[in-house]
Amino acid sequence: MRPAFFAERARERPLAYVVGKPCVLCKYGDCVEVCPVECFYEAEDMLVISPGECIDCTACEPVCPPKAITAGDAAEPEWVERAASFPYSDDKRRSKKEQVTHGPNWDPNLAGA
Ligand code: SF4
Ligand code: F3S
Repeated sequence: MRPAFFAERARERPLAYVVGKPCVLCKYGDCVEVCPVECFYEAEDMLVISPGECIDCTACEPVCPPKAITAGDAAEPEWVERAASFPYSDDKRRSKKEQVTHGPNWDPNLAGA
C-alpha cells in the first residue's frame, strides 16, 4: 500500500526536489545524511527522492558533490518521471551514507572527507 500511495502523490505533486543525471553511476550519498524526513531511496544506478515525502527543505541540494539535486521546477522531465515511477519500498530507503553503494564513477577527490 505504501509504495502505491507515494507513487500516486508523486504524480499529484511533481515539483519536489529531484535527483538528476550527475548522480548516475556515482552515488556519493551525502544527501541522505541531511534529509530530515529520510525520503531518499536507492536504485541500482542512482538515488531517487520520493516526491510524496520530500518537504522541500532544500538541505540536500548544496551537499551533493556533483550537484545532482535540483528543485523540481528546474529539473529535466526525464528525472521527474524517474522519481514518479520508481518502485518505492522500505528496503530501498537510505538515511546513512554507509548504506549507499558507490557507483563505478565515484571519485574520491570529489567526495572529500
Ligand atoms: Fe529531503 Fe529536504 Fe532534500 Fe526533500 S529537499 S529530499 S526533504 S533534504
Ligand atoms: Fe547522488 Fe549526490 Fe546523493 S551524487 S547519492 S544525489 S549526494
